Amino acid sequence: MTKFNDIQQHLSTHSYHWLVTGAAGFIGSNLVEALLKLNQRVTGMDNFATGHQHNLDQVQQLVGADAWQRFDFVNGDIRQLADCARACQGADFVLHQAALGSVSRSIQDPIATNETNVTGFLNMLTASRDAKVKRFVYAASSSTYGDHPDLPKQEPVIGNPLSPYAVTKYVNELYANVFARTYGSETIGLRYFNVFGPRQDPHGAYAAVIPQWIAALIGNKPLFINGDGETSRDFCFIDNVVQANLLAALADQPGAVNQVYNVALNQRTSLNQLHAMMCELLRDRFPHVLEHKPEHAGFRAGDVRHSQADISKAQTLLGFAPTHRIGEGLKQAMDWYVDSLTKDSK
Ligand SMILES: NC(=O)c1ccc[n+]([C@@H]2O[C@H](COP(=O)([O-])OP(=O)(O)OC[C@H]3O[C@@H](n4cnc5c(N)ncnc54)[C@H](O)[C@@H]3O)[C@@H](O)[C@H]2O)c1
Repeated sequence: MTKFNDIQQHLSTHSYHWLVTGAAGFIGSNLVEALLKLNQRVTGMDNFATGHQHNLDQVQQLVGADAWQRFDFVNGDIRQLADCARACQGADFVLHQAALGSVSRSIQDPIATNETNVTGFLNMLTASRDAKVKRFVYAASSSTYGDHPDLPKQEPVIGNPLSPYAVTKYVNELYANVFARTYGSETIGLRYFNVFGPRQDPHGAYAAVIPQWIAALIGNKPLFINGDGETSRDFCFIDNVVQANLLAALADQPGAVNQVYNVALNQRTSLNQLHAMMCELLRDRFPHVLEHKPEHAGFRAGDVRHSQADISKAQTLLGFAPTHRIGEGLKQAMDWYVDSLTKDSK
């Protein structure tokens, strides 16, 4: 019996009120879905900056009408303190996901990234303190490791940030730490490594590599690998991220709170390996992928060369036990990607 089993059991008999910010986005909508399926009451908040109504519609369909009655939605902006206060009303736990993601976007427009990721974060932290929520769990990022060369990445050893986005995510950790010391807030930061899975947006200039490549492969469009393809990442399937959030919210081990944790697999996959895995999974349905050749582009500014997480801290203090390695996650997500991308082109 894992800690996550215990928590699922606990939630089946205890109903809490959760606020998920960024609820119309990729990770947020998956958290909403999981919580509603566990009989919880959920408020979602989003301003649709990068999220979509169709993500919420899909969750509604997946959880069914009865569970959907336990969901309410605040169409609000975390840059506005009043919106945050409205959303936090009555919440036991906050799972703060709303942010402007993407290193490249932050290099294009550092001010917009800062407003949402720093001012918005501080507003949410303040509103959560004022609403006396039990715990504030937030999306931190592996980008905080910056230029530090050590592998695997261990939480206390970070380098200099390589992008405005990375600065904002590190500032989040500093603010969370100060709120714990100054106001007694309970916070936990989850440093996600490259997350993937259903409802991850395949479109737009800032799309993440997995949905972008699947779209290119299915549509037989050009696919660019930045650099020589030996850049590597610790790709993490969404179910592992959902698990980490629930474990963090309900963690009861001494020393577990007011910490940051890596959330990944401790498994490194190069871009070239990722490309080969995708082609393998798609070849039966889309035989043209066998002829499809990736093109190599320059290295991207702000990118780190290798990334791999040491997850022993989350395993020890949270009871984190990832259920999906990259291959299993890709297999599980592929049907969703294929469905949603072929629907788009009809
Ligand atoms: N996906 C990853 O691999 C990854 C890795 C590390 C960290 N993260 C972090 O995880 C969180 C969720 O990322 P995601 O991949 O689901 O991205 P996403 O873009 O799908 O979701 C973010 C959501 O936040 C909303 N949002 C943005 N600005 C807002 C504002 N001002 N007010 C209210 N809502 C706002 C967006 O509309 C969107 O629905 C982010 O904090 C991101 O920085 C993600």
